[in-house]
Amino acid sequence: MKPAPLHATLPHAGIHMATTEPIVRIHELTKVFRQGEINVTALNGISLDIEAGEFLTLMGPSGSGKSTLLHIIAGIDRPTGGSCRVQGRDIAGLSESELADWRNQNVGFVFQTFNLIPVLTAYENVELPLLLTRLSSRERRRLVTAALSMVGLEDRMRHLPRQLSGGQEQRVAIARALVTDPALVVADEPTGNLDAHSAAEVLEILRTLSGSGGKTVIMVTHDPKAAAYGRRSIHLEKGEFTAS
Ligand SMILES: Nc1ncnc2c1ncn2[C@@H]1O[C@H](COP(=O)(O)OP(=O)(O)OP(=O)(O)O)[C@@H](O)[C@H]1O
Ligand SMILES: [Mg+2]
Repeated sequence: MKPAPLHATLPHAGIHMATTEPIVRIHELTKVFRQGEINVTALNGISLDIEAGEFLTLMGPSGSGKSTLLHIIAGIDRPTGGSCRVQGRDIAGLSESELADWRNQNVGFVFQTFNLIPVLTAYENVELPLLLTRLSSRERRRLVTAALSMVGLEDRMRHLPRQLSGGQEQRVAIARALVTDPALVVADEPTGNLDAHSAAEVLEILRTLSGSGGKTVIMVTHDPKAAAYGRRSIHLEKGEFTAS
């Protein structure tokens, strides 16, 4: 199903205006995982600017550091060295609770396996991030309804995840990622479990988000067809950028 135009449904669309400052600025970023006696260098001193409103895709072989980079940008993990500034702020300098608040307000996540709560309806899954805010139930209803119609699922609100197709589940997950109106949407292989048709629907939505939706979208993918939806593609190999 074709999603409704974003500007028609998402209440705060366009609030994150493009500026000349990159929304993400990564400088000589390093991540080393220590496992017993062994150090694994997942990211090896990489630098990167991401402009507001970009749709950036991240490719590279398994183990090249794609998810690690995404997690650091999203404030799920912290770097070992270098810096990661998002919206002008060094997020590694935030305390755990500041980081959690920052994530909730600024980042929406989309995962390969959807990660919906099986006992909650589509509506309730999308509402979850808003339960951490002070919004009234009426306000929440307005935002949840707008996010679900943005992904073309206003008629599936009362369905449980198992009553939805994989593509529909992922669209609910995108609505959940959007409902707080984050500046940044990060997606780790969002089409990895989908057939070609559902994948195309999901990718169109992500592209719309980064275009008229004004969001910055960063997507990890193994699929060159999916990567082609992005405006820029970056390749990682053994924790370093290589020419694509
Ligand atoms: N929590 C962790 N503890 C130890 N090592 C880790 C951890 N997370 C990742 N690594 C290691 O860091 C490297 C990069 O992992 P990462 O998950 O970023 O790769 P990826 O590019 O996302 O791979 P894939 O395409 O398979 O998802 C790998 O060698 C991995 O084993
Ligand atoms: Mg990964």
